[in-house]
Amino acid sequence: MSRNKKLVSWVNEWSELCQPDNVYWCNGSEEENTRLLNEMVASGMAVKLDEKKRTGSYYFRSDPSDVARVENRTYICSVKEEDAGPTNNWADPVAMHSTLRALYKGSMRGRTMYVIPFSMGPLGSNIAHIGVELTDSPYVVVNMKVMTRMGQAVLDILGNGDFVPCVHSVGAPLEPGQKDSKWPCAPIEKKYIAHFPETHEILSYGSGYGGNALLGKKCFALRIATVMAKKQGWLAEHMLVMGITSPQGVKKYIAAAFPSACGKTNLAMLVPSIPGWKVETVGDDIAWMKFGSDGRLYAINPEAGFFGVAPFTSMDTNPNAMLSARANTMFTNTGLTPDGDVWWEGIGYDAPAGTITWTGELYDAQSGKPAAQPNARFSAPASQCPSIDKDWENPVGVPISAILFGGRRPSTVPLVYQSFDWNHGVFIGSIVGSEVTAAATGLKAGVRRDPFAMLPFCGYNMGDYFGHWVKIGVSAPDQSKLPKIFNVNWFRKSAEGKFLWPGYGDNIRVLQWIFERVEGKAEADETPIGYVPKPGSINTTGLNGFAANMAELLSVDHDQWKHELDLVREQYANFGSTLPKELARQIVAIEARLN
Ligand code: OXD
Ligand code: MN
Repeated sequence: MSRNKKLVSWVNEWSELCQPDNVYWCNGSEEENTRLLNEMVASGMAVKLDEKKRTGSYYFRSDPSDVARVENRTYICSVKEEDAGPTNNWADPVAMHSTLRALYKGSMRGRTMYVIPFSMGPLGSNIAHIGVELTDSPYVVVNMKVMTRMGQAVLDILGNGDFVPCVHSVGAPLEPGQKDSKWPCAPIEKKYIAHFPETHEILSYGSGYGGNALLGKKCFALRIATVMAKKQGWLAEHMLVMGITSPQGVKKYIAAAFPSACGKTNLAMLVPSIPGWKVETVGDDIAWMKFGSDGRLYAINPEAGFFGVAPFTSMDTNPNAMLSARANTMFTNTGLTPDGDVWWEGIGYDAPAGTITWTGELYDAQSGKPAAQPNARFSAPASQCPSIDKDWENPVGVPISAILFGGRRPSTVPLVYQSFDWNHGVFIGSIVGSEVTAAATGLKAGVRRDPFAMLPFCGYNMGDYFGHWVKIGVSAPDQSKLPKIFNVNWFRKSAEGKFLWPGYGDNIRVLQWIFERVEGKAEADETPIGYVPKPGSINTTGLNGFAANMAELLSVDHDQWKHELDLVREQYANFGSTLPKELARQIVAIEARLN
């Protein structure tokens, strides 16, 4: 319980509306966690995995209608529509409140309402913030325990202070005697993930999965935090944070943003292919960054765990993720083996006979139906990651020397280039995107722009968000200490459609160049689009066949870039008058350099 009057009356108000059978304040203890897990095993919602194979780990299967974030049911409910901007679904806050209040009325009948006080960021860090989530899902409680710092210690720090109010219901009340389903949720048209930027409120209804339900992650640490960060002069970003140590023992930290399916978690936990270099992980998904008293930008990882995509994670592609998930991990929608372990496509070995799929059927490799849902996840404590950085919980954060952007670009975009200055770097962030094929997504083929990899995660007008980045550069206490900004592209292909770069552990070679640029050492050619490595300045020792591709990997084709600028102009037209003039000027400047 808490003595925070605002918190207590808010909990009372919601429990009156949702009418749960009980209200339970989570203390965050191991005993509480074990009790909830045992209850879920007893109810059939969870399966305890074999204690020797996966100590303290559990397996869940969701409803097939509830397997991922629901972007078309995600709303930014700002008072003014233009404040949500052209990239968000806007809904009127008054109308949304009334729609949701009607749905929440009695929605927790037959269930317990759990009160989860949680901290995004190390307890007591001045970059961290506190939220409280009300939920009727015990699955959410045990996942929040992995993904955040939660429980009584958070209430102690909160005292009478302010918190971000988060309400979540699976939207499936139980009538007396009604048997619960294994994964209660509401149909898609009744799911709502609503954010209220003016009040910092988050109301989530109808889904029990991932980012829809673990409200500390995308809803708070990104959508609401972007709004807080704009007001308060800091950055809430969809970025991994990693430490890189050179053979000489010098360490630098890098933050990096990539759209989904670009190997972000793999990069955060990279095992370098060249001797002497070391990579350590601070976070794999979100960074909160603030200027420190020395004028440098410091980052914390607001999360405490990894909510990783399981399929195609293996001891080859990401041993550190595999080892993070070896114990005390929640698995959702993978396959389940007969000996009480999990299995997924791309795990690195064949499915044991008798494996059951995420839909509960006997797995048949010939059937074409996968054992794991493609968005099957593991929630693993970050502290279990072998590459975790010693400062990952430092309340001060880690000083960021470089910011990387990237996407899947088979053509046009070189392996790596550096921006000329901060605003040019903001331009590079604003044009991030991955090329999609029409067949794969049902979208128009071409580059799907995902500015700063924040398309589904910016809680306000994206044009204003670009402006906020420009402002951060201007208001930096010491411009010379701003991180240097780079773009990387591991996915460039030859005319024959073959990848030119090996990726994975060899990406350290590009990180080495970036590291040395930050030190003012590595050499670069000035091109119209930015600084590109001089031939020979990327370490290719031992790269074998791929070394011959360097010229093509680093080439800047003027005609392709002129076409790229046409596409950027089209993209920018969506932002109207909110597009900062500093960015519009970048197009003109690059074009002039290309001619
Ligand atoms: C994630 C995402 O799950 O970005 O991290 O979609
Ligand atoms: Mn993410």
